Amino acid sequence: MARRRKRIAILTGGGDCPGLNAVLRAVVKTAQNVHGWDVYGVENGIEGFLVPHGRGVRPLTRDDIGGLLPRGGTVLGSSNRLDIFAVPQKRGAPKDLSHRVPALMKRKGLDCLITVGGDGTARMAMRLSTLGVKVVSVPKTIDNDIRGTDRTFGHDTAVGVVSEAIDRLYTTAESHHRVMLVEVMGRDSGFIALHGGLAGGAEGILIPENPYDPERLADKIRRRTAFGRKFSIIVVAEGAQRAGGTQVYRTSASARGDVSARKRLGGIAAQLAEELRPLTERPVRTVVLGHTQRGGSPSPYDRILATAMGNHAVELVAEGAFGRMVALRGTKMRSVTLASASRGIRKVDPRGQLVQAAREIGITFGAADGSDDAYANARRRHGAP
Ligand code: F6P
Repeated sequence: MARRRKRIAILTGGGDCPGLNAVLRAVVKTAQNVHGWDVYGVENGIEGFLVPHGRGVRPLTRDDIGGLLPRGGTVLGSSNRLDIFAVPQKRGAPKDLSHRVPALMKRKGLDCLITVGGDGTARMAMRLSTLGVKVVSVPKTIDNDIRGTDRTFGHDTAVGVVSEAIDRLYTTAESHHRVMLVEVMGRDSGFIALHGGLAGGAEGILIPENPYDPERLADKIRRRTAFGRKFSIIVVAEGAQRAGGTQVYRTSASARGDVSARKRLGGIAAQLAEELRPLTERPVRTVVLGHTQRGGSPSPYDRILATAMGNHAVELVAEGAFGRMVALRGTKMRSVTLASASRGIRKVDPRGQLVQAAREIGITFGAADGSDDAYANARRRHGAP
């Protein structure tokens, strides 16, 4: 009797980012071309498993992936609202519905599941694997904060958006002699701020890893003003915080069961603007880039990384290497255990080489711990702003 073709299920979970469609394309092509396997898409992240009669799972064919490489977002839809281990009920306590995943997979003849997502999706994948689901994970996020991989796709595109925004803000800031505070995403990691600020040529970069002192930032702005540079661009990570202060959250009406709505960072730039106005006596404006950083077509780098990761995920399935996450190490595709990838997030090293390079070219981090001071003092001695 002919052996049944293997069936792989795939879902995209968490916040979307450019490159997700490129992963879907690479998985379908590799699975079909190399192994003759079929791929099934689960719609709207893990929520697809809860749709009655299995209607949230559909075949992903060649036709479905046509033209996907340059498309942002995900054609499968995504969700970061639902915790399958505690699903809110109309009445009574939340219910653990995770058993529905292996049950539906069995019913549909799905052999394994590829989850494409951030740290939350990796944690969920790990818990699903303890239920016997054969899972391989692919890391994605504009934040670049997943442990175990040197890079996540989506990040490069987001940094491009920040860099282009700074280019545009530069001319208007210069014309009006203003301080522009550009608030960027990244949650508790400062990679978008650091990379975007460096690419855009910002004067200051505030990251969550290095609590700031507004007076130190103001000192840099005042010195620039004294040197005739009456404008400044400061990139502020949404998770940055004043030393001795707390992170700033938007209060948003939490939709029922929407775990993502509970804690949304945002508003630090507006707070900082109030702090800087009296200290600098300069007009200060704020720009929040928000979800523009997640939108649009993936950069060439992200298309390549997403393609290589999708391809490698299928190879892990072929090897039977389940419970693992695809990882970029240097220039090579490797994998790490889901357990190690889910152990907290990756952060910027505030003493690292890139931060030091930024400081040496005159960028301030407004660091309350004084780690910018030696660089600022050297600039003073050498007559630089
Ligand atoms: O993790 C990606 C990210 O874009 C963060 O940078 C940001 O804080 C968050 O998601 C926003 O989430 P949401 O789309 O649910 O508002």
